[in-house]
Amino acid sequence: MANIKKDSKKKPWAGVFTEETAKGVEEFTESISFDHRLYEFDIQGSWAHAQMLMNQGIITKKEFAEIDAGLREIKHEIELKGKSGDFDKSFEDIHMYIEAELIKKCRETGKKLHTARSRNDQVALDLRLYLRFITEHYVIDQIITFQRTLIGISQENIDTIMPGYTHMQRAQPVTLAHHLLAYVEMFERDKERYKEALERISTLPLGACALSGTTLDIDRETVKKKLRFKHISGNSIDAVSDRDFVIEFISNSSIMMMHLSRMAEELVLWSTKEFSFIKISDAYTTGSSIMPQKKNPDVAELIRGKTGRVYGALVSILTTMKALPLAYNRDMQEDKEPLFDVVNTIKHVLRIINEMFPHIKFNKERMRETAAEGFSLATDLAEYLVTKGMPFREAHEVTGNIVKYCIDKSRSLEKSVDLHDLDLKEFEQFSDLIKDDIYSRLTVETSVKGRKLFGGTGEVEAQIKRLSEQMDMEKKKWRKFWQLW
Ligand code: ARG
Repeated sequence: MANIKKDSKKKPWAGVFTEETAKGVEEFTESISFDHRLYEFDIQGSWAHAQMLMNQGIITKKEFAEIDAGLREIKHEIELKGKSGDFDKSFEDIHMYIEAELIKKCRETGKKLHTARSRNDQVALDLRLYLRFITEHYVIDQIITFQRTLIGISQENIDTIMPGYTHMQRAQPVTLAHHLLAYVEMFERDKERYKEALERISTLPLGACALSGTTLDIDRETVKKKLRFKHISGNSIDAVSDRDFVIEFISNSSIMMMHLSRMAEELVLWSTKEFSFIKISDAYTTGSSIMPQKKNPDVAELIRGKTGRVYGALVSILTTMKALPLAYNRDMQEDKEPLFDVVNTIKHVLRIINEMFPHIKFNKERMRETAAEGFSLATDLAEYLVTKGMPFREAHEVTGNIVKYCIDKSRSLEKSVDLHDLDLKEFEQFSDLIKDDIYSRLTVETSVKGRKLFGGTGEVEAQIKRLSEQMDMEKKKWRKFWQLW
C-alpha cells in the first residue's frame, strides 16, 4: 500500500520525481487531445496482453476477469463521451488514461496490466491495429466501390467516342469507356499497394517493451494469434522505433490522391463551357456569391486541393523520422496528427467521389464532334499508307504534308477543311498509294474499332470483362485470405 499515490492524477512514472510537472510542459507534451481515437485499439491490445499474462501465470484468472470487465466498462464510458470527448490533458495520452481508469476500477489488479509492456511497444501496436482496421474496412472497400461505378459507366459508353489527348492537344479518337478504364487501372494499383502494406502492418511489436524485451516469461505467439497478426517483430529495438508502416500508408494515400486529383482536374476542365463534355448535377455543384450564372465544380476542385495536405503529411512524417537515433524518441508522437488528417481526408474524398460520380452527365454528341475535328485521323492515314507498303517515316511525312495542304486550303476558303474533305485527286498529288478505300478509313468509328490490340481503345469490351472478372476473383481471394488469419 505504501506505493499508492494519494493524488490520482500523479503520473504513473512519478516515482523518481520530486517536483510536479509544469503546467506548460503538460500542455506541450500531451497527445490525448488527438490520440484518444486509438482507444478501441488500445483496449483490444490490452485485452490480448492480459490474456497472455494469465496464460503465463503472471496474473491469475480472477485478476484477468477483473481487468477484462474493467476494460469493457472503460470502452463503454469512452463511447458515451462521444468521439471528440473531453479528456483531462494531465493524463498525457490515451494509453495512460485507460490504465489510470483501470487502476481506479480494479486497484491493485489494474496496476498489473502494464507488466512486461511499455508505452513504446503499446503505441506501435495501437497504430498498427488502427491502420489495419482503416485499410481493411474502409479504404479498400471504397476503392472497389468506385472502380465498380467506373466500370458500370464504361459499360454504357463502349461506343461513346471522344478525343484522346497528349500534351493537352487533341491526338486520336478514343472511347469514353477507354478513358475511364484508365482510372480503374490506376485505382487497381492503389488497392494493391494498400494490400501489400497490410502484410507489413500485420507485424506484432508487443513484447519489445521499452526496447530490449523483458526478463519475464511472456508468450508473443499467443498475443499474435489473439490479435490476428501475421508476423512477430524480429528485433525489439526496431519494433519500437519503426514507423515505416505509417509512412507507407501516407505514401500510398498520396499516390491515390494524385490519381484522384488528376481525375478531378479533368472533371473541372470537362465541365467548362469550352469543353462542355460533362454536366455535374446541381446537387453536386455550388454557386457564386456574386455571379448569378455560375455553377462551380467545387467538389472536384477540393479533391484536387486536398491532395496537397496529404503530400504535406508525407513530408512531415519523413522529416520527423529522418534523424532519429534508435529506438523510441518522443518526436515520434508527431506521427499521429498528420496520419489522422490523412485518414480523415481520404475518407471524405472517397465518400464524395463515390457519391458524385453517378450524378455526372456526359455530353456524348459534343465528345463525338470534337473527336472528329483537328486532324485526329492523321495517324490513321499514315497507317493506311503503311498497309499499302510505304515505310512509316515516309508515311508520317506525306501525311504531314497533306495536313498542311488542308490548313492552307482552310485559310483560303475561310472554312475548315479536314482530311476526309479532300477528293481523290488531291490525295493522289501526295501519293498514288491512296485509293478510294481511304474514305472508309477516315471516320472516327473505324479509327477506334481498328485499335483492337490488347489494351487498345477498340477492345474495351474485353477490358471491362477482364477487370470485372479480376475483381470478382479478388473478392473471393480477399475473403479467403482474411479468413486464414
Ligand atoms: N504518446 C506517446 C506517443 O504517441 C506514447 C509513447 C510515449 N512513450 C514514452 N516513453 N514517453 O508516441
